[in-house]
Amino acid sequence: MEAVQGAGVVVTGAGGGIGAALARRFAAEGARVVVNDLDADRAKTVADEIGGIAVPGDASEIVAEARDALGGTVDVYCANAGVASGGSEAAAEAVWALAWDVNVMAHVRAAHALLPHWLERGRGRFVSTVSAAGLLTMIGAAPYSVTKHGAYAFAEWLSLTYRHRGVKVHAICPQGVRTDMLESTGTAGDLVLKPTAIEPKDVADALFKGIEEDRFLILPHPEVSGYYEARAADPDRWLANMNHLQQKWEAAG
Ligand SMILES: NC(=O)c1ccc[n+]([C@@H]2O[C@H](COP(=O)([O-])OP(=O)(O)OC[C@H]3O[C@@H](n4cnc5c(N)ncnc54)[C@H](O)[C@@H]3O)[C@@H](O)[C@H]2O)c1
Repeated sequence: MEAVQGAGVVVTGAGGGIGAALARRFAAEGARVVVNDLDADRAKTVADEIGGIAVPGDASEIVAEARDALGGTVDVYCANAGVASGGSEAAAEAVWALAWDVNVMAHVRAAHALLPHWLERGRGRFVSTVSAAGLLTMIGAAPYSVTKHGAYAFAEWLSLTYRHRGVKVHAICPQGVRTDMLESTGTAGDLVLKPTAIEPKDVADALFKGIEEDRFLILPHPEVSGYYEARAADPDRWLANMNHLQQKWEAAG
């Protein structure tokens, strides 16, 4: 793809799962790819496989190093690292804090570091791996649902603020994707996510289609569009349906 050929791309949380699939696809399209992950070994394995550059560490702290590794310019930044923080209002403060830090603030910090250069040259692309939980809400996972709504709002805000200045933003909102994270979602994931789960490669395909069509909202599960519409059209009906799911989950133990 022309928009990506030769581009300097950063993918956070790319040591496995969706991030690794995005990194593989960008590399296959001729991009130079920085592979970030907290897990240094996994980042190196993926980087070696695709001829990329491993920059391990916390996604919040690697923009400067990644930019240097790419020769001074990041053309595409994929804020993909995320934590699947489950739990209710009773989840520990530390669980909420980590969810905010990785699922939202890492995106804010990256944008803060990248925007001056992007605005100066009138070009840049920010890809946010959000989740359908950022448009809908996942049973049994308050910190995840709330922070993914935050990530979606931030992506939307970036797009509406800077689109006339050459900055493109994409928000990827899948339901279940077969990764380690899906395995960690327990019986709620079994009920809601696994039946329609797709492969990480399908998410990369959806992103590239969205880039080609210049679309903000990327829905690897097209049915999410209908659920999102239903929520907006009749919130009480939607909540009642979601509560049925909640009760089904409680009954399943
Ligand atoms: N798997 C799903 O069903 C699903 C659905 C919707 C959205 N998502 C989102 O997709 C993204 C990728 O998830 P995945 O399913 O591939 O999960 P995954 O657990 O397979 O991969 C996530 C990677 O991020 C890394 N990571 C975690 N915190 C980090 C940090 N602070 N800095 C750098 N790396 C960090 C982990 O080490 C891991 O390798 C996440 O944002 C997740 O919320 C996943």
